[in-house]
Amino acid sequence: MTKVRLNLTKERRSLPDEATLGFGRIFTDHMFTMTYETGKGWHNPTIEPYRDFDMSPSTMTLHYGQAIFEGIKAFKTADHRIAVFRPKDYLARFNRSADILCIPQMDVEAVYDGLKQLLEVEKNWVPSKFGTALYIRPLVFATDHYVGVKVADTYKLVIMLSPVGAYYEHGFDPVSLKVEDKFVRACPGGLGEAKTPANYAASLRAGEVAVQEGFDQVLWLDAVHRKYIEEVGSMNIVFKINGELVTPALTGSILGGMTRRTVLELARDWGMKATERVISIDELYEAHAKGQLEEVFGTGTAAVISPVGSLTWKGKKIVINNNQTGPIAHKLFTAVTDLQYAKVQDTHGWVDFVTKV
Ligand code: COI
Repeated sequence: MTKVRLNLTKERRSLPDEATLGFGRIFTDHMFTMTYETGKGWHNPTIEPYRDFDMSPSTMTLHYGQAIFEGIKAFKTADHRIAVFRPKDYLARFNRSADILCIPQMDVEAVYDGLKQLLEVEKNWVPSKFGTALYIRPLVFATDHYVGVKVADTYKLVIMLSPVGAYYEHGFDPVSLKVEDKFVRACPGGLGEAKTPANYAASLRAGEVAVQEGFDQVLWLDAVHRKYIEEVGSMNIVFKINGELVTPALTGSILGGMTRRTVLELARDWGMKATERVISIDELYEAHAKGQLEEVFGTGTAAVISPVGSLTWKGKKIVINNNQTGPIAHKLFTAVTDLQYAKVQDTHGWVDFVTKV
């Protein structure tokens, strides 16, 4: 076990009301931190009180965005165990993002060990109501005080914890997507595959315009041809076309979502055809015209499964499944959450029970 320095607070805050958690605004009493320095490697794993950082205005990450993050969830089961969903797969993706952003690799086992010790300290913060979770947000950012452009020599890793409810206020109601034909999120050879703040910054302007136009979110097309479907930004996208699940292949400019992966694996277990391939927007509109575009839904750690009720591309709106949540979106939502809350046996080795309360 990694030797983690413990600096615990005696001032425990009262736990929030589980009915009104919302998403990502409440943080627990402690965080896990670790430091990196060239020549010294990652060191000083510590669990310490959650607090503001003192930051020099010249901190490199503020200027050049060398930062990565993750989003993992822990759940409380009916028998009071704390279950973390696919933790090492998420941490492997964290390292993939690190690679893309020239951030030094982390030892997945050591980071997970630190996370487990943090969860032990904070286990009372894991909410138990269905639909709630403890959202685990690991973050690495460059800490050199320097305003020249270079790969940093020093970094901070932080794991913070946030008890959450549903990501979207409208919950499981279908969302309306604008298929973006002007702005782009990521291009081939860029950062699109990494979970890095730049990708979210790149999505804000289009998102604002779409909301002003009355849509919920943007569905991105590829940056080169403006033709092939990519992702939603906060979620991957999955289509059910003529009985088959189809999702854009991971070509480098979209995030390899963990819920995306889980959904594909579950659908294949059920004997469904689930394909990762290039999908053009024309193909989708043609499938809709033939009555074969049966369901559309987003997949994400925060959002889980988010049904899509309509797509609008260049002013042409198509309505999916009468703007109702479809049976496969329902079935997948139930299957994923049943695994996460350990209501069913996990035959994939995805659920790790870390402690009990
Ligand atoms: C997640 O699904 O965990 C994410 O990181 C998406 C973010 C927009 C909340």
